[in-house]
Amino acid sequence: MCGIVGYIGDQDATPIILNGLKKLEYRGYDSAGIAVLQDGKIEVRRDAGKLNKLTAMVEMNPMTGNLGIGHTRWATHGMPTVNNAHPHMGSTGEVVVVHNGIVENYLELKEELLAEGIQFKSETDTETIVHLIELYLGLEADFTAAACKALSRLRGAHGVVTFSTREPDKIVAARIGNAGGVVVGLGDGENYLASDIPAILEYTRRMIFLESEQMVVLTKDEVKLTNFDGSPVKPEINTISWDPVSAEKGEYRHFMQKEIHEQVRSLTDTLAGRVDFDQGKISLAQLNLTAEKAKQIQKIIITACGTAAYAGMVGKFLIEHIARIPVEVDIASEFRYRDPIVDENTVVIAVSQSGETADTLAAMELAKRKGATLWANVNVIGSQAMRISDGFISMQTGPEIGVASTKAFTAPLVDFYMLAILLADLRGTIKEKERRQLVSDLRLVPNLVSKILQSEEGIIQAAREFKFIKSALYLGRGINMPIAYEGALKLKEISYIHAEGYPAGEMKHGPIALVDRDMPVIAIAPKDPWYEKMISQIEQAKARGGSVLVVATEGDEKVAELADHVFWVPETPWLLSPVITVIPLQMFAYHIASLRGLDVDQPRNLAKSVTVE
Ligand code: AGP
Repeated sequence: MCGIVGYIGDQDATPIILNGLKKLEYRGYDSAGIAVLQDGKIEVRRDAGKLNKLTAMVEMNPMTGNLGIGHTRWATHGMPTVNNAHPHMGSTGEVVVVHNGIVENYLELKEELLAEGIQFKSETDTETIVHLIELYLGLEADFTAAACKALSRLRGAHGVVTFSTREPDKIVAARIGNAGGVVVGLGDGENYLASDIPAILEYTRRMIFLESEQMVVLTKDEVKLTNFDGSPVKPEINTISWDPVSAEKGEYRHFMQKEIHEQVRSLTDTLAGRVDFDQGKISLAQLNLTAEKAKQIQKIIITACGTAAYAGMVGKFLIEHIARIPVEVDIASEFRYRDPIVDENTVVIAVSQSGETADTLAAMELAKRKGATLWANVNVIGSQAMRISDGFISMQTGPEIGVASTKAFTAPLVDFYMLAILLADLRGTIKEKERRQLVSDLRLVPNLVSKILQSEEGIIQAAREFKFIKSALYLGRGINMPIAYEGALKLKEISYIHAEGYPAGEMKHGPIALVDRDMPVIAIAPKDPWYEKMISQIEQAKARGGSVLVVATEGDEKVAELADHVFWVPETPWLLSPVITVIPLQMFAYHIASLRGLDVDQPRNLAKSVTVE
């Protein structure tokens, strides 16, 4: 949460930083600010609200300089006000800080600083950092040493970026704890900093990812990476293959809409290089999985949050059905505080688009401590989840900017499908004919997705009709049960309509009491093994006056007769059906939110990467 950008070089830092912040607004949009070193003085502009307010402010009152830092905030400590907006300056005007994360010991530090007579101007935990650096700067004279001393006193998980008028040719940044990523972008006679790749991707593809407890000092010509104890670290330079254009909205109104439509490409890329259609084989090289290791696995635990956890639920189904290995799905924020039964024969798979979700990372650390093999299904290259895992499956979705996850939901479904086949193959528990059929079915996916995307007009019409609903009940069964959860989450997070996902078979145990003409039921009923059960559920809802919208397989006359609305999906092999059935629900949520005039890409109270607890 919170986006950070920094620049040092010969160009004007202001437009580079504002442009970078635009790409990071998905990380937080409560306030935005920028600090530039102008004629030896720190100039700050900041405002509550979205980035466009800051941009207008800078236009009215321009600032220029070759070194600067910027921030978009997702408020944790203190309301989203101007005073609480980053960057934060100290009392001397010599130091400025932007920060992503929570200073867990800030009350203790604040007390110490108050006792020194320092006055606070904001309610943020961040302000303690800048005062602490200034305090040490008073004693040390060396800015880097003062920053290092101050930063090593912070507890929690952070990315911090700071500069000072005392040493006007450098920016210092640090990563503390697991969350709060810091990325260094290497230029020619200039260098960049960001909390996330898309902010600087248009300027460089050569990037260094800081590990926890590492500091970096940037000048325009040099990047010096050290541990907090001052020992040098040889940086690993990664070349990022993402296309900078994929981090732009292009012709679409919103990133979410663009990302929904990108699923043909992301799923094509998901298969590329991993599926051998001739041999009917799967290869997932970065998992480092051998037949011996596959045979040792006694249990798999999938851990994740939100949409990623729902993808994990489909993953459970696929692995249990195809590879016959027991799988549990555990919400990361719960798993991390339990004493889960995990040993060296357990594989823990973390699913995460960002690879920076604090709860997921904590769950991964716990699993590692308990001796499990750790795998990650992760999108952001170089993210912490990718780095701490023993093996990973990289989602081939490119950057996902919309806060509501779409293409980073369907990619893991296909990744789990491939993983299940690979595990079954390596363990020798699948017949060749069946394996070949499962692999061959994958070929259909991009085309099926493309077909559904062409049905957007019908979905817009339904959205027009449903846009004023107050509540909705999403029902699914079997492999499509998690799609009910995911469909409901999409609707609630961007349109602020209450929605519940429910296993359809549980209706009679309580929720059916909710059904009346004001509570639409959205049923996911493709031609899969639970089809008949879903039909009887739809009939029960109809009998109670509910209006029913059904996701159904083309040509299904029974559904056509029963339902008030149908989102038709093409016939799909049932183990792949969740990849297909979720897409109309993504579009439905998108169009409802859009018709309600809401900010689809930046829904209230949310941020893309949840790097705090
Ligand atoms: C998705 O629409 C949500 N915004 C959210 O549930 C998200 O999936 C969750 O926070 C997990 O994020 P991650 O995949 O980056 O770990």
